[in-house]
Amino acid sequence: MTFYSDIPAIRNWLATVRAAGKTVGLVPTMGALHDGHLSLVRLAAEHVDTVVVSIFVNPTQFGPNEDFNRYPRDPDGDRALLEPIGVAAVFAPESHEMYPPGHATTVTVRGVTEGLCGASRPGHFNGVATVVTKLFNIVRPDVAVFGQKDAQQLAVIRRMTADLNMEIEIIAAPIVREPDGLAMSSRNRYLDPDERRQAAVIYRALEHGRTMAASGVTGVRELVAAVHDEITGAPAARIEYVDIVDPGNMAPVEDVTGEALCMVAVRFGGTRLIDNMMLIAG
Ligand code: PAF
Repeated sequence: MTFYSDIPAIRNWLATVRAAGKTVGLVPTMGALHDGHLSLVRLAAEHVDTVVVSIFVNPTQFGPNEDFNRYPRDPDGDRALLEPIGVAAVFAPESHEMYPPGHATTVTVRGVTEGLCGASRPGHFNGVATVVTKLFNIVRPDVAVFGQKDAQQLAVIRRMTADLNMEIEIIAAPIVREPDGLAMSSRNRYLDPDERRQAAVIYRALEHGRTMAASGVTGVRELVAAVHDEITGAPAARIEYVDIVDPGNMAPVEDVTGEALCMVAVRFGGTRLIDNMMLIAG
């Protein structure tokens, strides 16, 4: 596994990969890797010959009061996890490589970015769309894999690749959960033991919503209220949103008649966690 930190070097290497007729998959990450990320890598490897993982804590997707500075960074741990699972290369640029002086372009995706995390984290998806566009242009992958946990991000990337005619297949990887149901996230390591124990309520609440929808409850108000009530049973939980949306465009739905995505963002102390689950009408 080779590490590249500068753009010309990884481009030269990728030229030799493509000259050998190999397909390339990209798994964009911000590092501090866990089993959820490894599942993305394994899924990419099912589709392509050569898997590239990017590790870059992207400053433009963090708001001024967010956790950019304390976001976990663990290059040795990341290397130890990626080496045994057949990753061909890691692209880990410094900030000045991605955003040199004079950088003045931002990619904005409208509509799908407007609610949910887009409303509570203004500018976040501009940063994501911009950095992912840059990573796509640098690596020029045949496929790219993103986790379903960041369902709105996935919808943004799908919209962007379609609108900008990017010839990249976007693959969604299922959410990987801890034994108690908490969705794996690099931010889980911020939780103290009590918050960590309480955070499993998110999964229980989503499961409750799923069971209600499957047993014939279609009203979004009733479903949202039930998920909300379950989460507030955990004293440390501070709900940012519970919404039920169309998984394609992230627009709120009124009734769950087919499939709809229940999306939540909850804070435990200073840690903001997101999760989601598909509700399928019974
Ligand atoms: O999901 C993430 O880790 C980040 O938002 C991504 C896609 C790597 C862009 O920085």
